[in-house]
Amino acid sequence: MFEVIGKFVHSGGVGVAARKLNSPEYNDNLAASKLPPHYHGQTPAVLRFSEAFARLEGPVEVAKHQSSEVEHWNQIEEQARAGQQIFWLNHPRVAKHYYEKALVDGLTWQDWMIREALGRPAEVALELGCGKGDGLVSVWRAGAARRLIGVDLHETRFAAARERLKDAGGSLHLKAEDINHIRLEASTYDLIYALQSFHHFENLEYLFSEIHRALTPDGFCVLNEYVGPARFQWTDMQLRLTTQLLGLLPLNLRMYRNGIEKRAEGRSSVEQVMAVCPSEAVRSDEIVPLFHQTFDVVHHNLLGGTIQHLLYSGIVLNFPHNDPATDHLIDCIDGLERVFIEHGIVLSDFALLIGKKRAAPGKRRPA
Ligand SMILES: C[S@@+](CC[C@H](N)C(=O)[O-])C[C@H]1O[C@@H](n2cnc3c(N)ncnc32)[C@H](O)[C@@H]1O
Repeated sequence: MFEVIGKFVHSGGVGVAARKLNSPEYNDNLAASKLPPHYHGQTPAVLRFSEAFARLEGPVEVAKHQSSEVEHWNQIEEQARAGQQIFWLNHPRVAKHYYEKALVDGLTWQDWMIREALGRPAEVALELGCGKGDGLVSVWRAGAARRLIGVDLHETRFAAARERLKDAGGSLHLKAEDINHIRLEASTYDLIYALQSFHHFENLEYLFSEIHRALTPDGFCVLNEYVGPARFQWTDMQLRLTTQLLGLLPLNLRMYRNGIEKRAEGRSSVEQVMAVCPSEAVRSDEIVPLFHQTFDVVHHNLLGGTIQHLLYSGIVLNFPHNDPATDHLIDCIDGLERVFIEHGIVLSDFALLIGKKRAAPGKRRPA
């Protein structure tokens, strides 16, 4: 038998972490519960299996093998529209801390771009992996671009962005293309940015050199991204800290919707992460070094998430909004995560990176 000790969630996929109990009937029970043979007999045992979750969770859909990336993202957005709040940044107080850390000289990066970096709106700005258009809307509303181009995988991804940006009229262009092979016009864009999408791109060296080539001589590249362990292979330290902080939470905040208590976050296998989303965090841990190699980095903000991303996953909906006691708890969790990152106990899994086009790639501008 096994004892379920926690559930993990990643990009809409869900699984269960279970501790193997020392029972001779264990394998029989696993066989009876139709779990695949590679789960049998594992020890010391934190087993993860979304199949088990499928049985336990009932009405909530497990994102199984998605037939395509596009379906995956359309489905995630459908779930969000239906009010499912499972991601850590769905909570306004958690998001407030994240976006405060993303300020640049007290400004959002969009405002900073107009006032401090370019000194004017970008003539043409390009968003890579624009999805439903949050980034396009933020850049447009801030007045940070006169013309906007958004790229994503497929036409079906653009319905929301088109609707939300009706007022942009002919200044908005949306293009369906695989960004791993995108070809960009040279010296064309004052601003190229990606928000939580770059960690889905695999062809990083090509893409960075293409972005560099496509920026105007004074252009900027901005990423607000997950840059943590590739394929969500969480470090032992971040899992341990998450478990300890979870233990401090009152029980009502730690309960999954299916009535299981979250006591730990699991670490899915690479195969399990890919089964949910084939491009998930494909080379996320290589983004920061390649960015620094390509651009003159003017800002590199550490946005945390190393613990909070894991801790709130699947339970964030239990945390009431605008409740002073809950807000205090969230503030303390954020405060502890900051300390762990500042003191190098864990790295920051999310970052805001702002880079200026370098005169020649690979060579730094003279000081
Ligand atoms: C996590 S979502 C982020 C969407 C949006 N930037 C946001 O913040 O809401 C990742 C986006 O990248 C897109 N994407 C993933 N791989 C892609 C590829 N190879 N080419 C183009 N778009 C891709 C997905 O379709 C999805 O819209």
